Amino acid sequence: MTEEKIINNKDLRRALGCFPTGIAIVTTENEAGDPIGLTVNSFNSVSLDPPLIIWSISLSAPSINAFRYNKSFAVNILSSDQKELCQKFSTPSTDKFNGTAWEKSVMGVPLIIDSIAQFECITHATYPGGDHEIYIGRVINYTHNNKEPLILSKGKIINS
Ligand SMILES: Cc1cc2nc3c(=O)[nH]c(=O)nc-3n(C[C@H](O)[C@H](O)[C@H](O)COP(=O)(O)O)c2cc1C
Repeated sequence: MTEEKIINNKDLRRALGCFPTGIAIVTTENEAGDPIGLTVNSFNSVSLDPPLIIWSISLSAPSINAFRYNKSFAVNILSSDQKELCQKFSTPSTDKFNGTAWEKSVMGVPLIIDSIAQFECITHATYPGGDHEIYIGRVINYTHNNKEPLILSKGKIINS
């Protein structure tokens, strides 16, 4: 039997960072009608038919309550000139949308203007995922354009 490796969280994070990703801001509206959003790199595609995507949120993120309450959300994929938004939406704050260019979608969720792609979703399923909660979204509407994506590799943004 192979022995389970003793996991050092910092080192595991470094190893996981060897898989480059894009960066997105996932948005929704809370019970009070305020726009909510956080920076994520846990986004990925799951299925084309039906159209499903996946992302996960830390159980300690204050914004988790809004995603548990509202069954609609949007994934806004950041472009290479939106590094400031990545930082802004990864810092806890009640006014992340102040000074951010955004609009409300037909589904009632915030869309970040000038992002490279936007996926409006309804929550299809949620699963426990250790210290995170896993969200599967069904894509109801989407847009995309020709900009370049912001890319995260080994913990660093490599193209802004
Ligand atoms: C590049 C990057 C990727 C991130 N990915 C995730 C993620 O996938 N899930 C998550 O819960 N937090 C992620 N975070 C951390 C959150 O953005 C951060 O904890 C944020 O403050 C959460 O928003 P809130 O405090 O308004 O709840 C990421 C941060 C950065 C900078």
